Amino acid sequence: MDFLRITDITPAQLREILAIAAKLKAGLAKGSAPPLLDKKTLLMLFEKNSTRTRVSFETGMAQLGGHAIYLDSTRSQISRGETLYDTGAVLGGMADFIMARLYKHADLEELAKGALVPVINGLTDEEHPCQTLADLLTIQEKWGTLKGRKLAFVGDCDNNVAHSLMIGCAMMGMDVSLLGPKGAKPKDKYIEKAKSFKTSITFSSDPAMALAGADAVYTDTWVSMGDEKEAAARLKLFSPYQVDSKLMAYAKPGAIFMHDLPAHRGEEVSAEVMDGPQSVIYQQAHNRLHAQKGLLVWLLKSSR
Ligand code: CP
Ligand code: NVA
Repeated sequence: MDFLRITDITPAQLREILAIAAKLKAGLAKGSAPPLLDKKTLLMLFEKNSTRTRVSFETGMAQLGGHAIYLDSTRSQISRGETLYDTGAVLGGMADFIMARLYKHADLEELAKGALVPVINGLTDEEHPCQTLADLLTIQEKWGTLKGRKLAFVGDCDNNVAHSLMIGCAMMGMDVSLLGPKGAKPKDKYIEKAKSFKTSITFSSDPAMALAGADAVYTDTWVSMGDEKEAAARLKLFSPYQVDSKLMAYAKPGAIFMHDLPAHRGEEVSAEVMDGPQSVIYQQAHNRLHAQKGLLVWLLKSSR
């Protein structure tokens, strides 16, 4: 059982993971940290930078009584030509889980093919499903329920975060509206997947229309890791879509502002919104820890 895409699990399984996460979070707040992953090891392979993903997984493993190993791909034998298949086959014989943050999604699939233990996507060019788990947990904490809520995603709607989030929201019965320039519409395969869960999924370049009735307004960087060469063109393309207080005013009063972070104040979001009363960005970042603990515990149970 791997978690490479948000659709590797069913809506019922997604609900189960969120329930475990919420329970572990509530328990931890009362000082309870059951060693559910006693003697288990997570191997964390990184080709790209990370702050939250690395620290939340490593802390989560420690809290669950297990251990996490950080492996920088440039310091591993991968950078000297060892294949991802062989790497997965070897690591899977030592660690109980593998989490990898790679550039190409196809490389992650190759790693997972070789590994006989659960492989978790810690972000690729196509998806960031662990982020979606934390995002849904955060919305659930804020609004109590997910079904029937509406999330508006603003800016680069065709990136990894947007893909997993749009589909994850739809799986939970939420409507999603995407707001961005024409070229930023998600590829059809993601739109079609999201629509298969029978909620409303729309794309437009009109802020009033996209944000009307939104319970959550979400944005992400305009220049994802790997897109650096296109930075100047991207900043220009997306500049009309900064989430500022004027844009937030189109959403429901009291709508929350979300961002997976790292953010670029003054680009995709104004400092005023990031630091304002509607922002839940740090709660959302902290929920990476709790959501992934839920995922790890669930994966262990489901892989037996
Ligand atoms: N949101 C997120 O994945 O953060 P990091 O890049 O810091 O891991
Ligand atoms: N879309 C961003 C997310 C970073 C967590 C990127 O891929 O760089």
